[in-house]
Formats: sequence, C-alpha cells, structure tokens
Amino acid sequence: MKNCIKQISLDDHSTEHRYMQIYRQIKESILSGLCQYEERLPSVRAMAALLQVNAVTIVKAYDLLEKEKLVRKVTGSGTYVDYGRPVVVEDTLMEDDVQRSVFISPDTINFASATPSPDLFPVRDFKTALLEVLDRDQGYAFGYQDPKGYEPLRTAVGKMAKHLGIQCENENIQIISGAQQGIDLVAKGLLYPGETVLIERPSYGGAMQAFFSRNARVVDVPLEPDGISLDALEFSIRETRPRLLYVMPNFQNPTGISYTHDKKKKIIELSEKYNFLILEDDYLNELSFSDEPAAPLKVMDQHDRVIYIKSFSKMFMPGLRLGYLIVPMRVAEKLLAAKQSSDISTSGLLQRALERYLSTGAWEQNLQVLCNEYRQRFHRMAWMLEHYMPNNVKFLKPTGGLNFWLKLPDQLNSQMLYKSAMERQLIFAPGELFYARKPDENCIRLSIAAVKFSQIEAGIKLLSQLIRLRLKLDQKETPLRAEYRDPIL
Ligand SMILES: Cc1ncc(COP(=O)(O)O)c(C=O)c1O
Repeated sequence: MKNCIKQISLDDHSTEHRYMQIYRQIKESILSGLCQYEERLPSVRAMAALLQVNAVTIVKAYDLLEKEKLVRKVTGSGTYVDYGRPVVVEDTLMEDDVQRSVFISPDTINFASATPSPDLFPVRDFKTALLEVLDRDQGYAFGYQDPKGYEPLRTAVGKMAKHLGIQCENENIQIISGAQQGIDLVAKGLLYPGETVLIERPSYGGAMQAFFSRNARVVDVPLEPDGISLDALEFSIRETRPRLLYVMPNFQNPTGISYTHDKKKKIIELSEKYNFLILEDDYLNELSFSDEPAAPLKVMDQHDRVIYIKSFSKMFMPGLRLGYLIVPMRVAEKLLAAKQSSDISTSGLLQRALERYLSTGAWEQNLQVLCNEYRQRFHRMAWMLEHYMPNNVKFLKPTGGLNFWLKLPDQLNSQMLYKSAMERQLIFAPGELFYARKPDENCIRLSIAAVKFSQIEAGIKLLSQLIRLRLKLDQKETPLRAEYRDPIL
C-alpha cells in the first residue's frame, strides 16, 4: 500500500480531525484506482508509526472506510481494499461476444458489433490475390516464415505508414496476427508482473484482458471530450510510475473521442519526462468524416517512445488475423522474441495474399467503398440520435469512426435496457464491457459497423422509445432536441 502512504499528508493547522484527513486521503486513492482491489492496507500500528499519530486515530479512519465498504477487515490478517474488483477474464465479454451470445436473425438491428459485416468483405479481389500467390509461390507460400513478417508485406505497410506521416524503416515493422496479438505481445514482452499500465477510462476490453493476463496493475485515467485528462494522467504517472500508457487517440473505442493535437503532443512530452512507453492502438484512422485527417500520435514521436499498432480487421477482414506494429528499435528484439514464442510467425499464405492485394490498387478501391458506406451510416446515425433521443440522454458527436457513446440518465441501467432491447431484436454493447473496474452502469455503445443503413432509423426510434418507456416520459414529448450535446465524460 505504499502509494496510499506516500500521498497522505497531515495538516496540523486544519480544523479537520486527523482521522478524517487520513480517511479522506485513503478514500481518494481507492476511488482513483491508485490503491487497488485486494491490496492490503498497512497494519494499524505501522500506519500510526509512519504518520506519527495515535493508533486510535488510524482505527477510526479504517472504521470509516469499512463502513463505506471501501475496505474489508479480515481477522488475523489485515485490512484489504474492497473496492473496484477488476472485471475478471471469465466475466468479461469481448465486444463481439455480445452478438455471439444471442441469436441474430437477419432482422436483428445490430448496433453491438464493431466489425464490418461479411457483405462488405472484398472476397472476389482477395480470391484473385490468393490464386496469384498460389500460382507464383507454390509450396513456398506454406513454409515457415520470417517471424518479423514477409519482407515485401513489411515494405508495403511501411509505405502505408509513411503516407500517414510516420517515419519508419522495415526493421521497425513487425507483422502480427491481428492487433489483439500486438497488444498481447507488448504485455508479454515488455511488462514485468505488477508493473503499471495506464489506460483510458473507458477502454477496449481486449487490451485490459491482455494486461491482466500478465498480472499488470491496470490503472484507468478518465477521458474528456478532447482526449485523456492531462491532470489526472500526470497525477497517476507520478503516483504509479507506469511502464506503459495504452491509448486510442483517434475515434477511441468505445467513446469515439479524438485527441486534440495539443493533447497528443503533451502526452508525448510526458512519456519522455517520466520515462514510459506509449502503446498507440490506431485501429481506425481511415474513417475521418471531418476535414481533418486523423493523424496518428506516432507521427509526433520525436523521442521514439510510441509503439504503433494497426489492425486490418476494421477496414478489411477480421478473420484474416493480420496487422502490424511499428516499434522503436530499443524494444524490437523483445517483441520479436514474444512473437516467436507465441506463434512463430503469422500465416505466410495470408501475408503474401495481403501484399498482392495491397499492390494492385484493390485496397484503395475497397477503402473508398467502405468509407462511403460508413459515411452514410455515420451521418444517418448522428441525425437520428440528435432528433430522437430524449434530452437527458447525453452524447458527443464523434468526428469519425464507427462508435457512438451514450450516457443514459442516472436512473437507467444499461443492462436493463439491453434486455428489453434484445426482446425486440435490437442489440448494442452495454458500457460495462469497457471498464477495468467499477463500471459506469448507464452508458451504452452503438456501432454502425454491422447495422444496415436502412435499419438505423427504426433502430434509433425503437431505442429512444424504450428509454422513454423506462423513464416513463411522455411519449408525445416533442422529439426535436433544442441544442447539440453537452460534454458527457
Ligand atoms: C480498439 C481495438 N483494438 C484492437 C482490436 C483487435 O483487433 P484485431 O482483430 O486486429 O485483433 C479491436 C477489436 O475490436 C479493437 O476494437
């Protein structure tokens, strides 16, 4: 519990009792995630000695914490933090499990899935690329591959990255079997058990699972409408001395929030000042619907501290399990070793086929098709939400991406809404999936990745009706919203 102790300072001139000062400061540490579930508080005697107060003062502070169920006393063992139980792996639904666990008929309105539906996959062009590879490479396509990746594919993705403004050489590029593997390799290769990873609150569940699986200490930092809260971030950095910060600076999953240029710059500066690495998950930069392209953080990485992850799942085909990392040379070897011990290499056949596909121009064409389709869905969705959601449902319109994050009124629980929506063949992702601890229970994520354009209107009208019903609002209330959203996070 060294973090709690480090923070506690007693003000002798304060009118507040000492036990209240101690109680309040420990409480703050617990609520902010610095003192985590199951951590043991120092014994009464040790704490009293450290703070140079009477043991009764500590007992009173601990009693108050226990009354509020923030800690739990175990006879003969000590006092343990009883707040913020991490979402254990078995409990955690990966986002797409939401849809896997329910039967989806063709009529289901699917706002849950954040991956494109199979009708958007460019099957014919990819088949051509595959056949070309088979004719050209014969059996070589099926041998073990270089663990770093098929060299021509690394060259091709390097070109894509340079197009985005990222400076890199082939030696910085590591091909991976999907972004999820990339996150896992970073957790496995770079984190010692107990080291701290800072993540956004809320964040992507698959990343949290990867960090938990390596016994990392995961501390979440709140998001603001323009990116991570810098004050909270710097506070957490000072308190926890993290090894890693995991962020999605463009169209964050689940909130859709994008960081401002200044915030991106600032977190790069912080990584240099406090000596930690940044893991940038750039899963969706292609889908900007504003005039500004979504610039990766990696572009500004003058200190070479950003590990960049790119998935091919969202803008291509998730089942291929392909992606790439751009890594600072100082960690390249460790990540390569982690890759080798995970799966030796990513499928050679698929790497070759992807390289062919990228070089024929089919990639750009497909990107255009997807962007056009998603743009239409995006604007439809935004319009419907603006016009049909009750005023006390808060949301922030993203500037791109696939996700809309809604905060329901306090009295409305997202699980309850989920159940009644599912009965009417509408599904979405309940917000609970996106928290490492103590979830917000009244947020939901609506995605446009798999829902048909023609279903959006009916879907949002139905959802808004269900919300009104649950809130017992007047159904005839004028649906037009007075004004655009206030910040929600
Ligand atoms: C933010 C984010 N990162 C990574 C992934 C995993 O991507 P992949 O399919 O490439 O493993 C997902 C999948 O939903 C995601 O949403």
